[in-house]
Amino acid sequence: MRTLFKGGTVVTGKGPRRADILVEGEKILDVCRDIPAIGAQVVDVTGMLLFPGFIDAHTHFDLDVCNTTTADDFASGSRAALRGGTTTIVDFACPNKGETLHDGLRLWHEKADGKCACDYGFHMTIDDWNDTIESEIDDMYGEGISSFKMYMTYPAMMIGDKLMYKALKKLKEKGGICGVHCENAGVIDALIAEKKEKGENGVYCHPETRPDFLEAEAVSRLLRIAEAVDIPVVIVHTTNIQALDEVANARWRGQKVFVETCPQYLVLDDSVYYNEDWLQAAKYVCSPPIRTAEDRDALWRAIRRGEVQTVSTDHCSFTTAQKLAGREDFTTIPGGLPGVETRGELVYTFGVTTRKISLAAMCRVLAENPAKLYGMFPRKGVIAEGADADIVVYDPEADHVIRAEDMVGAADYNPYEGVVTRGSVKQVWLRGKLAVNEGRVLAGPEGKYIRRGKCCL
Ligand code: URP
Ligand code: ZN
Ligand code: ZN
Repeated sequence: MRTLFKGGTVVTGKGPRRADILVEGEKILDVCRDIPAIGAQVVDVTGMLLFPGFIDAHTHFDLDVCNTTTADDFASGSRAALRGGTTTIVDFACPNKGETLHDGLRLWHEKADGKCACDYGFHMTIDDWNDTIESEIDDMYGEGISSFKMYMTYPAMMIGDKLMYKALKKLKEKGGICGVHCENAGVIDALIAEKKEKGENGVYCHPETRPDFLEAEAVSRLLRIAEAVDIPVVIVHTTNIQALDEVANARWRGQKVFVETCPQYLVLDDSVYYNEDWLQAAKYVCSPPIRTAEDRDALWRAIRRGEVQTVSTDHCSFTTAQKLAGREDFTTIPGGLPGVETRGELVYTFGVTTRKISLAAMCRVLAENPAKLYGMFPRKGVIAEGADADIVVYDPEADHVIRAEDMVGAADYNPYEGVVTRGSVKQVWLRGKLAVNEGRVLAGPEGKYIRRGKCCL
Protein backbone atom coordinates (compact mmCIF):
# COMPACT_ATOMS: atom_id res chain seq x y z
CA MET A 1 0.00 0.00 0.00
CA ARG A 2 1.47 3.33 -1.09
CA THR A 3 0.37 6.79 0.03
CA LEU A 4 1.52 10.01 -1.59
CA PHE A 5 1.32 13.29 0.34
CA LYS A 6 1.13 15.83 -2.44
CA GLY A 7 1.61 19.58 -2.47
CA GLY A 8 2.67 20.23 1.12
CA THR A 9 5.60 21.93 2.84
CA VAL A 10 7.88 19.46 4.60
CA VAL A 11 9.47 20.83 7.76
CA THR A 12 12.83 19.53 8.89
CA GLY A 13 15.30 20.71 11.51
CA LYS A 14 17.05 22.67 8.73
CA GLY A 15 13.93 24.45 7.50
CA PRO A 16 10.78 24.08 5.41
CA ARG A 17 10.76 23.03 1.75
CA ARG A 18 8.14 22.13 -0.82
CA ALA A 19 8.19 18.37 -1.36
CA ASP A 20 5.93 15.35 -1.77
CA ILE A 21 6.26 12.36 0.54
CA LEU A 22 5.83 8.81 -0.74
CA VAL A 23 5.04 6.22 1.91
CA GLU A 24 5.04 2.46 1.51
CA GLY A 25 3.68 0.40 4.37
CA GLU A 26 5.11 1.82 7.59
CA LYS A 27 8.06 3.61 6.03
CA ILE A 28 8.87 6.73 4.04
CA LEU A 29 10.09 5.72 0.60
CA ASP A 30 10.91 9.09 -0.92
CA VAL A 31 10.78 12.82 -0.23
CA CYS A 32 11.17 15.11 -3.24
CA ARG A 33 9.31 17.43 -5.60
CA ASP A 34 6.66 16.17 -7.99
CA ILE A 35 6.60 12.47 -7.20
CA PRO A 36 4.25 10.77 -9.72
CA ALA A 37 1.14 9.27 -8.14
CA ILE A 38 1.37 5.92 -9.92
CA GLY A 39 -0.20 3.18 -7.80
CA ALA A 40 -0.53 5.35 -4.70
CA GLN A 41 -3.51 6.81 -2.84
CA VAL A 42 -3.02 10.56 -2.92
CA VAL A 43 -3.50 12.78 0.13
CA ASP A 44 -3.81 16.38 -1.00
CA VAL A 45 -1.85 18.43 1.53
CA THR A 46 -1.74 21.68 -0.42
CA GLY A 47 -1.17 24.57 1.97
CA MET A 48 -0.29 22.24 4.85
CA LEU A 49 2.87 22.01 6.92
CA LEU A 50 4.15 18.45 7.27
CA PHE A 51 6.13 17.77 10.44
CA PRO A 52 7.76 14.54 11.55
CA GLY A 53 5.55 12.95 14.23
CA PHE A 54 6.23 14.83 17.44
CA ILE A 55 8.03 13.03 20.25
CA ASP A 56 7.12 13.75 23.86
CA ALA A 57 10.01 12.50 25.94
CA HIS A 58 8.47 13.42 29.30
CA THR A 59 5.11 11.88 30.20
CA HIS A 60 3.73 10.31 33.36
CA PHE A 61 0.86 7.99 32.47
CA ASP A 62 -0.73 5.66 35.02
CA LEU A 63 1.56 6.89 37.77
CA ASP A 64 0.74 6.35 41.44
CA VAL A 65 1.75 9.58 43.08
CA CYS A 66 0.50 12.02 45.79
CA ASN A 67 -1.78 9.29 47.24
CA THR A 68 -3.63 8.98 43.95
CA THR A 69 -3.11 7.83 40.35
CA THR A 70 -2.76 10.14 37.38
CA ALA A 71 -6.01 10.68 35.50
CA ASP A 72 -4.50 9.48 32.23
CA ASP A 73 -3.40 5.90 31.80
CA PHE A 74 -1.61 4.70 28.67
CA ALA A 75 -4.89 4.30 26.77
CA SER A 76 -6.28 7.81 27.29
CA GLY A 77 -2.87 9.49 27.51
CA SER A 78 -1.64 8.03 24.25
CA ARG A 79 -4.86 8.92 22.43
CA ALA A 80 -4.50 12.47 23.70
CA ALA A 81 -0.88 12.47 22.58
CA LEU A 82 -1.80 11.34 19.07
CA ARG A 83 -4.51 13.96 18.82
CA GLY A 84 -1.89 16.60 19.52
CA GLY A 85 0.47 15.26 16.86
CA THR A 86 2.66 13.18 19.15
CA THR A 87 3.36 9.80 17.63
CA THR A 88 5.95 8.64 20.19
CA ILE A 89 6.06 9.16 23.93
CA VAL A 90 8.81 8.24 26.37
CA ASP A 91 7.29 7.67 29.80
CA PHE A 92 9.10 7.27 33.10
CA ALA A 93 9.12 3.69 34.36
CA CYS A 94 9.26 3.85 38.10
CA PRO A 95 10.06 0.85 40.30
CA ASN A 96 8.24 0.76 43.64
CA LYS A 97 10.53 1.62 46.55
CA GLY A 98 12.88 -1.28 47.28
CA GLU A 99 12.11 -3.08 44.01
CA THR A 100 14.50 -3.74 41.16
CA LEU A 101 14.74 -2.00 37.79
CA HIS A 102 13.45 -5.20 36.21
CA ASP A 103 10.38 -5.01 38.46
CA GLY A 104 9.85 -1.43 37.37
CA LEU A 105 10.22 -2.32 33.73
CA ARG A 106 7.81 -5.25 34.02
CA LEU A 107 5.28 -3.01 35.76
CA TRP A 108 5.51 -0.37 33.02
CA HIS A 109 5.12 -2.93 30.26
CA GLU A 110 2.00 -4.21 32.06
CA LYS A 111 0.64 -0.68 32.13
CA ALA A 112 1.42 0.16 28.50
CA ASP A 113 1.55 -2.97 26.33
CA GLY A 114 -1.59 -3.51 24.31
CA LYS A 115 -3.08 -0.21 25.51
CA CYS A 116 -0.93 2.47 23.94
CA ALA A 117 -2.23 4.06 20.75
CA CYS A 118 1.05 5.77 19.86
CA ASP A 119 4.57 4.35 19.86
CA TYR A 120 6.28 4.40 23.22
CA GLY A 121 9.48 3.86 25.14
CA PHE A 122 10.50 4.17 28.77
CA HIS A 123 13.16 6.02 30.68
CA MET A 124 14.10 4.12 33.85
CA THR A 125 13.92 5.90 37.19
CA ILE A 126 16.86 5.36 39.53
CA ASP A 127 15.71 6.24 43.04
CA ASP A 128 18.29 4.18 44.90
CA TRP A 129 21.74 2.77 44.18
CA ASN A 130 23.07 -0.62 45.27
CA ASP A 131 24.84 -3.63 43.75
CA THR A 132 21.61 -5.11 42.35
CA ILE A 133 20.60 -1.91 40.61
CA GLU A 134 24.13 -1.39 39.30
CA SER A 135 24.14 -4.89 37.84
CA GLU A 136 20.79 -4.24 36.13
CA ILE A 137 21.92 -1.24 34.12
CA ASP A 138 23.46 -3.40 31.37
CA ASP A 139 20.20 -5.36 31.08
CA MET A 140 18.26 -2.14 30.69
CA TYR A 141 20.21 -1.36 27.52
CA GLY A 142 19.35 -4.86 26.31
CA GLU A 143 15.70 -3.97 26.90
CA GLY A 144 15.97 -0.85 24.76
CA ILE A 145 16.28 1.60 27.63
CA SER A 146 19.12 4.02 27.07
CA SER A 147 18.02 6.88 29.32
CA PHE A 148 17.42 7.22 33.02
CA LYS A 149 15.91 9.67 35.47
CA MET A 150 16.94 10.85 38.91
CA TYR A 151 15.31 13.26 41.33
CA MET A 152 16.98 15.81 43.60
CA THR A 153 13.67 16.38 45.39
CA TYR A 154 10.56 14.40 46.48
CA PRO A 155 11.46 12.31 49.59
CA ALA A 156 10.16 9.07 48.04
CA MET A 157 12.29 9.44 44.93
CA MET A 158 15.36 11.54 45.65
CA ILE A 159 18.67 9.80 45.54
CA GLY A 160 21.22 12.17 47.16
CA ASP A 161 24.46 13.53 45.78
CA LYS A 162 26.72 10.57 46.64
CA LEU A 163 24.50 7.94 45.04
CA MET A 164 23.83 10.21 42.10
CA TYR A 165 27.56 10.47 41.53
CA LYS A 166 27.90 6.67 41.65
CA ALA A 167 24.95 6.11 39.33
CA LEU A 168 26.28 8.65 36.81
CA LYS A 169 29.67 6.90 36.86
CA LYS A 170 28.03 3.65 35.83
CA LEU A 171 25.97 5.38 33.13
CA LYS A 172 29.13 6.96 31.74
CA GLU A 173 30.60 3.48 31.18
CA LYS A 174 27.57 2.72 29.01
CA GLY A 175 27.42 6.06 27.22
CA GLY A 176 24.08 6.56 28.94
CA ILE A 177 22.07 9.68 29.36
CA CYS A 178 20.22 10.79 32.46
CA GLY A 179 17.50 13.40 32.99
CA VAL A 180 17.42 15.01 36.40
CA HIS A 181 14.67 16.85 38.28
CA CYS A 182 16.58 19.74 39.86
CA GLU A 183 15.24 21.39 43.02
CA ASN A 184 16.91 21.83 46.40
CA ALA A 185 14.87 19.52 48.67
CA GLY A 186 16.20 20.63 52.06
CA VAL A 187 15.59 24.35 51.77
CA ILE A 188 12.18 23.74 50.17
CA ASP A 189 11.25 21.69 53.25
CA ALA A 190 12.37 24.51 55.52
CA LEU A 191 10.38 27.10 53.55
CA ILE A 192 7.29 24.89 53.71
CA ALA A 193 7.67 24.59 57.48
CA GLU A 194 7.92 28.38 57.74
CA LYS A 195 4.70 28.86 55.75
CA LYS A 196 2.91 26.32 57.90
CA GLU A 197 4.14 27.95 61.14
CA LYS A 198 2.62 31.20 59.90
CA GLY A 199 -0.67 29.38 59.14
CA GLU A 200 -0.44 30.13 55.42
CA ASN A 201 -2.03 27.64 53.07
CA GLY A 202 -2.85 29.47 49.83
CA VAL A 203 -1.87 27.93 46.51
CA TYR A 204 0.65 30.79 46.19
CA CYS A 205 2.65 29.01 48.93
CA HIS A 206 3.57 26.40 46.33
CA PRO A 207 5.67 28.72 44.10
CA GLU A 208 6.90 30.71 47.08
CA THR A 209 8.39 27.62 48.71
CA ARG A 210 9.96 26.40 45.46
CA PRO A 211 11.70 29.56 44.17
CA ASP A 212 13.75 29.81 41.00
CA PHE A 213 17.10 30.05 42.83
CA LEU A 214 16.53 26.70 44.54
CA GLU A 215 16.01 25.14 41.13
CA ALA A 216 19.16 26.90 39.93
CA GLU A 217 21.11 25.70 42.97
CA ALA A 218 20.21 22.11 42.18
CA VAL A 219 21.06 22.59 38.49
CA SER A 220 24.44 23.98 39.50
CA ARG A 221 25.10 21.10 41.96
CA LEU A 222 24.04 18.48 39.42
CA LEU A 223 26.29 20.02 36.80
CA ARG A 224 29.26 19.99 39.17
CA ILE A 225 28.57 16.32 39.96
CA ALA A 226 28.34 15.64 36.22
CA GLU A 227 31.60 17.52 35.77
CA ALA A 228 33.26 15.26 38.36
CA VAL A 229 32.02 12.22 36.42
CA ASP A 230 32.57 13.83 33.02
CA ILE A 231 29.19 12.88 31.62
CA PRO A 232 26.52 14.86 29.69
CA VAL A 233 23.18 15.21 31.51
CA VAL A 234 19.68 16.45 30.72
CA ILE A 235 18.07 19.15 32.87
CA VAL A 236 14.39 18.28 32.61
CA HIS A 237 11.52 20.79 32.89
CA THR A 238 13.77 23.85 33.10
CA THR A 239 11.81 26.94 34.10
CA ASN A 240 13.91 30.02 34.68
CA ILE A 241 16.73 32.42 33.86
CA GLN A 242 18.92 31.49 36.81
CA ALA A 243 18.81 27.81 35.91
CA LEU A 244 19.70 28.70 32.29
CA ASP A 245 22.62 30.77 33.60
CA GLU A 246 23.96 27.74 35.48
CA VAL A 247 23.75 25.71 32.27
CA ALA A 248 25.59 28.47 30.39
CA ASN A 249 28.34 28.42 33.05
CA ALA A 250 28.76 24.68 32.73
CA ARG A 251 28.86 24.87 28.94
CA TRP A 252 31.44 27.62 29.21
CA ARG A 253 33.54 25.21 31.30
CA GLY A 254 33.28 22.76 28.41
CA GLN A 255 30.52 20.49 29.67
CA LYS A 256 27.84 19.01 27.43
CA VAL A 257 24.41 19.79 28.86
CA PHE A 258 20.99 19.16 27.35
CA VAL A 259 18.01 21.26 28.39
CA GLU A 260 14.32 20.45 28.26
CA THR A 261 11.50 22.87 28.94
CA CYS A 262 7.72 22.48 28.74
CA PRO A 263 4.76 24.43 27.28
CA GLN A 264 3.49 25.54 30.69
CA TYR A 265 6.75 27.44 31.25
CA LEU A 266 6.60 28.93 27.75
CA VAL A 267 2.98 30.03 27.69
CA LEU A 268 1.86 30.80 31.26
CA ASP A 269 3.25 32.90 34.10
CA ASP A 270 3.13 32.74 37.88
CA SER A 271 0.03 34.95 38.15
CA VAL A 272 -1.94 31.69 37.80
CA TYR A 273 -1.12 30.91 41.44
CA TYR A 274 -2.61 34.15 42.77
CA ASN A 275 -6.13 33.51 41.46
CA GLU A 276 -8.60 34.06 44.32
CA ASP A 277 -10.50 30.98 43.25
CA TRP A 278 -8.54 28.22 45.03
CA LEU A 279 -9.33 25.52 42.48
CA GLN A 280 -8.42 27.70 39.51
CA ALA A 281 -5.01 28.26 41.08
CA ALA A 282 -4.55 24.63 42.19
CA LYS A 283 -5.00 23.46 38.60
CA TYR A 284 -1.55 24.91 37.83
CA VAL A 285 0.38 23.29 40.68
CA CYS A 286 3.39 21.53 39.27
CA SER A 287 7.03 21.23 40.25
CA PRO A 288 9.05 23.22 39.51
CA PRO A 289 6.33 25.89 39.48
CA ILE A 290 5.47 28.20 36.59
CA ARG A 291 7.71 31.29 36.76
CA THR A 292 7.61 34.95 35.71
CA ALA A 293 6.99 36.45 32.28
CA GLU A 294 10.72 37.33 32.12
CA ASP A 295 11.63 33.68 32.64
CA ARG A 296 9.13 32.68 29.98
CA ASP A 297 10.67 35.11 27.48
CA ALA A 298 14.16 33.88 28.32
CA LEU A 299 13.13 30.30 27.60
CA TRP A 300 11.90 31.25 24.12
CA ARG A 301 15.17 33.09 23.49
CA ALA A 302 17.09 30.03 24.65
CA ILE A 303 15.19 27.83 22.21
CA ARG A 304 15.92 30.28 19.40
CA ARG A 305 19.62 30.25 20.21
CA GLY A 306 19.73 26.46 20.41
CA GLU A 307 20.40 26.49 24.15
CA VAL A 308 17.25 24.46 24.87
CA GLN A 309 17.13 21.18 22.97
CA THR A 310 13.67 19.78 23.67
CA VAL A 311 10.16 20.89 24.56
CA SER A 312 8.32 17.99 26.17
CA THR A 313 5.24 18.23 28.35
CA ASP A 314 5.81 16.58 31.74
CA HIS A 315 2.20 15.48 31.19
CA CYS A 316 1.01 14.39 34.64
CA SER A 317 -2.73 14.92 34.66
CA PHE A 318 -5.22 15.02 37.48
CA THR A 319 -8.91 15.86 37.56
CA THR A 320 -10.23 18.84 39.50
CA ALA A 321 -11.57 16.38 42.10
CA GLN A 322 -8.05 15.05 42.56
CA LYS A 323 -6.63 18.58 42.87
CA LEU A 324 -9.32 19.34 45.50
CA ALA A 325 -7.84 16.66 47.74
CA GLY A 326 -5.09 19.15 48.55
CA ARG A 327 -7.52 21.80 49.85
CA GLU A 328 -6.37 21.58 53.49
CA ASP A 329 -2.63 21.43 52.84
CA PHE A 330 -0.98 23.03 49.81
CA THR A 331 1.82 20.44 49.85
CA THR A 332 -0.68 17.67 49.11
CA ILE A 333 -2.15 19.17 45.93
CA PRO A 334 -1.25 16.58 43.28
CA GLY A 335 1.47 18.18 41.16
CA GLY A 336 1.33 18.14 37.40
CA LEU A 337 -0.61 19.36 34.37
CA PRO A 338 -2.11 17.78 31.29
CA GLY A 339 -0.16 18.77 28.18
CA VAL A 340 0.25 16.08 25.53
CA GLU A 341 -2.81 17.12 23.57
CA THR A 342 -1.89 20.76 23.04
CA ARG A 343 1.92 20.94 22.85
CA GLY A 344 2.36 21.26 19.08
CA GLU A 345 -0.39 23.85 18.65
CA LEU A 346 0.91 25.92 21.58
CA VAL A 347 4.49 25.94 20.31
CA TYR A 348 3.28 26.92 16.84
CA THR A 349 0.91 29.59 18.18
CA PHE A 350 3.12 31.19 20.83
CA GLY A 351 6.50 30.46 19.25
CA VAL A 352 6.35 30.34 15.46
CA THR A 353 3.60 32.80 14.59
CA THR A 354 5.03 35.38 17.00
CA ARG A 355 8.42 34.85 15.34
CA LYS A 356 10.06 33.89 18.61
CA ILE A 357 11.28 30.71 16.95
CA SER A 358 11.42 29.36 13.42
CA LEU A 359 9.55 26.40 11.97
CA ALA A 360 12.89 24.57 11.88
CA ALA A 361 13.42 25.20 15.60
CA MET A 362 9.91 23.92 16.31
CA CYS A 363 10.74 20.76 14.39
CA ARG A 364 14.02 20.35 16.25
CA VAL A 365 12.61 20.72 19.77
CA LEU A 366 9.47 18.66 19.19
CA ALA A 367 10.83 15.88 17.01
CA GLU A 368 14.39 15.82 15.75
CA ASN A 369 16.28 16.56 18.97
CA PRO A 370 14.31 14.20 21.24
CA ALA A 371 14.78 11.47 18.63
CA LYS A 372 18.55 12.07 18.64
CA LEU A 373 18.87 12.58 22.38
CA TYR A 374 16.95 9.44 23.24
CA GLY A 375 18.33 7.09 20.61
CA MET A 376 15.50 6.89 18.06
CA PHE A 377 17.05 8.82 15.17
CA PRO A 378 16.72 8.43 12.16
CA ARG A 379 13.85 5.98 12.60
CA LYS A 380 11.89 8.76 14.33
CA GLY A 381 12.12 12.55 14.36
CA VAL A 382 12.61 13.21 10.66
CA ILE A 383 10.75 13.07 7.38
CA ALA A 384 13.31 11.28 5.24
CA GLU A 385 13.68 8.12 3.23
CA GLY A 386 13.76 5.06 5.49
CA ALA A 387 12.17 6.74 8.53
CA ASP A 388 8.89 5.58 10.07
CA ALA A 389 6.03 7.30 8.27
CA ASP A 390 4.97 9.33 11.33
CA ILE A 391 3.61 12.54 9.84
CA VAL A 392 1.73 15.49 11.32
CA VAL A 393 -0.39 17.41 8.81
CA TYR A 394 -0.66 20.90 10.28
CA ASP A 395 -3.18 23.34 8.83
CA PRO A 396 -1.80 26.84 9.57
CA GLU A 397 -5.14 28.47 8.71
CA ALA A 398 -7.43 26.35 10.93
CA ASP A 399 -7.40 28.39 14.14
CA HIS A 400 -9.50 27.02 16.99
CA VAL A 401 -10.27 27.55 20.65
CA ILE A 402 -8.81 25.14 23.21
CA ARG A 403 -11.63 23.69 25.29
CA ALA A 404 -11.44 20.93 27.91
CA GLU A 405 -14.70 19.47 26.60
CA ASP A 406 -13.06 18.75 23.22
CA MET A 407 -10.08 16.90 24.70
CA VAL A 408 -9.71 13.13 24.72
CA GLY A 409 -7.38 13.16 27.73
CA ALA A 410 -8.92 12.22 31.09
CA ALA A 411 -8.42 15.50 32.95
CA ASP A 412 -11.68 17.46 33.15
CA TYR A 413 -9.97 20.81 32.71
CA ASN A 414 -7.39 22.27 30.40
CA PRO A 415 -4.70 24.71 31.59
CA TYR A 416 -5.04 26.63 28.31
CA GLU A 417 -8.84 26.88 28.29
CA GLY A 418 -9.99 29.60 25.89
CA VAL A 419 -6.65 30.05 24.14
CA VAL A 420 -7.14 30.69 20.44
CA THR A 421 -4.59 28.64 18.53
CA ARG A 422 -3.04 29.62 15.24
CA GLY A 423 -3.72 26.65 13.04
CA SER A 424 -4.33 23.11 14.18
CA VAL A 425 -3.28 19.51 13.83
CA LYS A 426 -5.44 18.29 10.94
CA GLN A 427 -4.18 14.73 10.53
CA VAL A 428 -1.71 12.45 12.23
CA TRP A 429 -0.23 9.41 10.52
CA LEU A 430 1.43 6.74 12.62
CA ARG A 431 3.73 4.40 10.70
CA GLY A 432 1.83 4.99 7.47
CA LYS A 433 -1.68 4.69 8.94
CA LEU A 434 -4.12 7.54 9.49
CA ALA A 435 -4.35 7.77 13.29
CA VAL A 436 -6.14 11.11 13.71
CA ASN A 437 -8.40 12.91 11.27
CA GLU A 438 -9.82 16.40 12.01
CA GLY A 439 -9.56 15.87 15.76
CA ARG A 440 -10.99 12.32 15.75
CA VAL A 441 -8.65 9.61 17.02
CA LEU A 442 -8.98 6.62 14.72
CA ALA A 443 -6.07 4.56 16.04
CA GLY A 444 -6.64 1.61 18.32
CA PRO A 445 -4.09 0.34 20.82
CA GLU A 446 -1.55 -0.23 18.06
CA GLY A 447 1.45 1.57 19.53
CA LYS A 448 4.76 -0.28 19.36
CA TYR A 449 7.35 -0.42 22.10
CA ILE A 450 10.44 1.31 20.70
CA ARG A 451 13.81 -0.16 21.67
CA ARG A 452 16.09 2.81 21.84
CA GLY A 453 19.81 3.12 21.24
CA LYS A 454 22.40 5.64 22.26
CA CYS A 455 22.20 9.42 22.21
CA CYS A 456 23.47 10.98 18.98
CA LEU A 457 22.83 14.67 19.69
O1 URP B 1 4.67 18.39 39.22
C1 URP B 1 5.14 17.63 38.39
N1 URP B 1 5.93 18.07 37.45
N2 URP B 1 4.82 16.34 38.43
C2 URP B 1 5.35 15.34 37.61
C3 URP B 1 6.56 14.70 38.20
C4 URP B 1 7.82 15.46 37.90
O2 URP B 1 8.36 16.11 38.77
O3 URP B 1 8.30 15.41 36.77
ZN1 ZN C 1 10.23 16.26 37.66
ZN1 ZN D 1 7.99 14.70 35.13
